[in-house]
Amino acid sequence: MSKVFFLFCFLPVLLLFSEAHEHHKKIEFYQLEKGNMKLNLTNYGATIVNFILPDKHGNLADVVLGYDLIDDYKNDTTYFGALIGRVANRIGEAKFTLDGKTYKLPANDHGNTLHGGTKGFSDVAWTMKSHKKDSYITFTYSSYENEEGFPGKLEVSVTYLFIGTNKFGVKMIAKPVDKATPVNLAQHTYWNLRGHNSGDVLSHIVQIFGSHITPVDNKLIPTGQLQSVKGTPYDFLEPKSIESQINELPGLYDMNYVLDGSGNEHLSKVVVVKDPVSGRQLELWSNQVGLQYYTGGQLNNTKGKDGAIYHKHAGIALETQGFPDAVNLPNFPSQIVKPGEIYQHYMVYRFTAS
Ligand SMILES: *[C@@H]1O[C@H](CO)[C@@H](O)[C@H](O)[C@H]1NC(C)=O
Ligand SMILES: *[C@@H]1O[C@H](CO)[C@@H](O)[C@H](O)[C@H]1NC(C)=O
Ligand SMILES: *[C@@H]1O[C@H](CO)[C@@H](O)[C@H](O)[C@H]1NC(C)=O
Repeated sequence: MSKVFFLFCFLPVLLLFSEAHEHHKKIEFYQLEKGNMKLNLTNYGATIVNFILPDKHGNLADVVLGYDLIDDYKNDTTYFGALIGRVANRIGEAKFTLDGKTYKLPANDHGNTLHGGTKGFSDVAWTMKSHKKDSYITFTYSSYENEEGFPGKLEVSVTYLFIGTNKFGVKMIAKPVDKATPVNLAQHTYWNLRGHNSGDVLSHIVQIFGSHITPVDNKLIPTGQLQSVKGTPYDFLEPKSIESQINELPGLYDMNYVLDGSGNEHLSKVVVVKDPVSGRQLELWSNQVGLQYYTGGQLNNTKGKDGAIYHKHAGIALETQGFPDAVNLPNFPSQIVKPGEIYQHYMVYRFTAS
């Protein structure tokens, strides 16, 4: 039997096996625990399932929205706790052009691409690479050429880690293997600092360190302009409750903020959220240019974990990232990463209660 014949016969079998391996990667749960901070995570979507924090009296509560079963995560349209990619947020008309070639993507949101397509990084099994329960966990994912229409292979990793006694970090890294590609990862946890099953977040106090937003057209795609928040319900430069001006909005709070502190190599303060009842507060720092601020206005009786029913505004998502549709808007900061370059996205949360 010639070598060529041998390969011809067995290559499809080998490919089948490697495919099967990808599709049947075991889905498991992993814990992180330090002092009063306790997390439960899964490699499905590199998702944060539970996040337990003390209130001002030391009482513990789970402060993130989630589900009981992996099947619920598979069915989900809310992206609870998941790692979003290859390109988080919207890409207008589900296409872009790079190096003279036009790439067509799945149009999974009113003719646009949302959160990486029909089966983005939030809907695949990642590999658990390393884990130390009192310290960190790293998940990796090898995105293949043309996955959801995107160019080239991309090696991705996310590390969730404790920093000191009350800080929690998210470190997202991506490396294109063979072609330039847009990359825009985001962590999509929904917070309810009073407890995931406590009702809505409307009385949470929010401060966002962004004096401009990127307004959108009627298809939720940015017009390319930057608009001052002054005199609008989007002004959170001084702390105020989510509900204070919510009735003046044309739609929902689901808007990208241009972060004032971005543009240097250091982390800058992005947002502070406090629940006045439990006293829990989170402060988020990042190296990203934008924050997608979404207050869960599309939740509608979603059946969550522990019997919870998540009504409208049950949780708030604070997604640091690049600007929406940057791949089609040349005046927005570029999200193109070339082979040899490294995409690095850092988030640091600091939790207190008083
Ligand atoms: C982690 O979450 C899963 C899914 O809800 C659950 O089955 C498991 O018991 C949890 N583990 C811990 C230690 O909380
Ligand atoms: C997932 O969604 C399908 C279609 O809506 C439904 O039939 C099925 O029961 C759902 N599965 C779970 C676990 O909720
Ligand atoms: C919420 O869901 C119910 C069905 O469960 C539906 O009748 C209602 O129109 C939905 N509301 C909104 C605002 O989408």
